[in-house]
Amino acid sequence: MPTKTENKLTRQKLADALNEDLSREYQAIIAYVNYSQVLKGASYMNIADELTVHAKEELDHALQISNFVDYLGGMPSVTPKPVKTSEKAEEMLRFDLDNETETIRQYRRRVKQADELNEFAIAEGLREILVQEQDHLISLATALGIDPPNPGIAD
Ligand SMILES: [Fe+2]
Ligand SMILES: [Fe+2]
Repeated sequence: MPTKTENKLTRQKLADALNEDLSREYQAIIAYVNYSQVLKGASYMNIADELTVHAKEELDHALQISNFVDYLGGMPSVTPKPVKTSEKAEEMLRFDLDNETETIRQYRRRVKQADELNEFAIAEGLREILVQEQDHLISLATALGIDPPNPGIAD
C-alpha cells in the first residue's frame, strides 16, 4: 500500500496529469477533423456539422491546457493519444463517445486536484471545458440514439 507521502499531490504531478489531458485534446482535434469529413449518409449530416464545431472547441481546450501546464512549470506535450479510424459512421461516433467519456472522467478529477492545490483559476477553466465536453458527449449520444453514459470520475 502506498504511503501518504507518495500520494501527495504536487504542482509537478498536476502538470503531468494535465499533459495527459492535452494529449487527449490533440486526439480529439484529429478525430473530429477526420470524422467530420469522412462521415457519410443523409441521417448523419447534422452531426457531421456539429463535429466541425467540436474540432474548434477542442483546439481551444488544447490551448488552455497548454497554458496551465506552462504556468505550472511543465513543458506542454506534443503527442496525441492514438486516433482510431473507421469507414462506418456509427463506429466513428462510438469512438468519439468513448473518448469524451474518458475525457470527462479525467477532467472531473483534475478539477478536484486543482482545488486541492488552491489553483482555483485552473479549476475554473477546467469547469468551463467540462461544460463543453459534456455537450459533446450529449450530442454524440443523441446522434447514436442512446442515453448519455455516466462517465464517473477518474481515480
Ligand atoms: Fe476538449
Ligand atoms: Fe470534447
